[in-house]
Amino acid sequence: MPWELIIWLISAALCVVLLMQPVWEYPLPRWLDGIAWGWALGGFPLTVGRMVTTWRRLCIATDLAVTNRPRHAVIAGDLMVSGSPLRPSVPRLGLPRLTRSGLRLRIRMLPGQTPALYLAAAEAMTHDWRVYGVRVVSPRRGWVTITATARDPLADGAAGVVARSVRLLSAVVGLTEDGGPWGIDFRAVPHWLVVGATQSGKSTLLASLVSELAPQPVALVGIDCKGGLELSLFEARLSALASNRGEAAALLAALVVEIEGRMAECRAAGARSVWELADGSRPVPLVVLVDELAELYLSDGSRESKRLAVECSTALLRLAQLGAALGLHLIVAGQRVGSDLGPGVTALRAQLGGRVCHRVHDEQTALMALGDLWPDAVAVAQSIGEDERGVAVATVGGSWLRVRSTHTTTEQARLTAMMHAKSTPAMPGLVHAVGGGDLS
Ligand SMILES: Nc1ncnc2c1ncn2[C@@H]1O[C@H](COP(=O)(O)OP(=O)(O)O)[C@@H](O)[C@H]1O
Ligand SMILES: [Mg+2]
Repeated sequence: MPWELIIWLISAALCVVLLMQPVWEYPLPRWLDGIAWGWALGGFPLTVGRMVTTWRRLCIATDLAVTNRPRHAVIAGDLMVSGSPLRPSVPRLGLPRLTRSGLRLRIRMLPGQTPALYLAAAEAMTHDWRVYGVRVVSPRRGWVTITATARDPLADGAAGVVARSVRLLSAVVGLTEDGGPWGIDFRAVPHWLVVGATQSGKSTLLASLVSELAPQPVALVGIDCKGGLELSLFEARLSALASNRGEAAALLAALVVEIEGRMAECRAAGARSVWELADGSRPVPLVVLVDELAELYLSDGSRESKRLAVECSTALLRLAQLGAALGLHLIVAGQRVGSDLGPGVTALRAQLGGRVCHRVHDEQTALMALGDLWPDAVAVAQSIGEDERGVAVATVGGSWLRVRSTHTTTEQARLTAMMHAKSTPAMPGLVHAVGGGDLS
């Protein structure tokens, strides 16, 4: 096709200009940082060409074309004909803008149209434009924004955006499917639930989170009842670590005492949350990481075991209910979160507003993790393959997206924790509780 040839020629000329950049030393604009050049110079203009040439046919085939003319007409005096009008009008394509891994454009909907029509046409767009994915959102009444992604940014080896966490209690833990940074922000969503089958990437996500939070003035507390295998890597940066259920029950009880103390402090100062206290008197924010939730609820039938399970469950629920305003945040990882674990689990899940669902074995688990908030995300979570470790469906800014966590290795995790060991806030009350906890 001649237009394809013209586009290639323009791209080749641009390539030459860019290749000469080190020799001429002219500065590149900042927005070009992180752009995939192959996409910008080859794929992008080709895709725009495909969009322009297929748009009218696509609109007609997917019912995006509308007509203002009547479906019948009277011709030759008294002969009435009916049928589809010949030239329906189609919505006008906005100017496509280059993004790091695709393109974005806005379309003004025609009168009578709703975003649902465009959502239904998204799959046809991916085929006609030959891109990996198309996402349709409607941020403003009357408009839709269409984002096309050139290739799966979550695939192994795909280049992503390297971003750092900047806000207190927020952590960039990976990439989202549109190529942007994936953040867990405890100030926006106070508590998180992470589910997934064994080897799906739960502990790696916790490791990435700890690595990002380690430099911040935040106390990290670990509960890992599988002998502390995963979280003990970070022991140098943890203010307290419980590695069996006895210790966990004692630590959770001490955390409840801690937040009750904070509640009294807030009340005395007339503040509704620790964030309203003066900078100097504000207690350090606490993030409690729980790996393998089921271990807290398991019972071997003995009275002692049942007592510990109830204690853990009650304390955890209390922390989830009261914690957010008092600077205590929870991130709980487990394989299942069903009521079969214990009576408090469903109530706990309702408090954990942030959700991350890795590969799961059964629909039930995906439903429990996402179904109450995002029913349409359940099928997407179920489609995560065996080899897609670290890929998940997660809460992102009031909606959900496919995401992939940063692959933090054991060695990296240990090193990061040691590097920031000095910034570990001392919490003697918690350490004492763990030291004095009876073993189960
Ligand atoms: N984001 C990721 N990218 C690449 N590989 C990952 C990622 N997350 C996990 N993995 C791989 O999967 C393995 C299991 O991960 P892990 O976090 O221990 O799973 P889980 O805690 O769910 O059992 C890890 O050893 C790692 O090699
Ligand atoms: Mg694990």
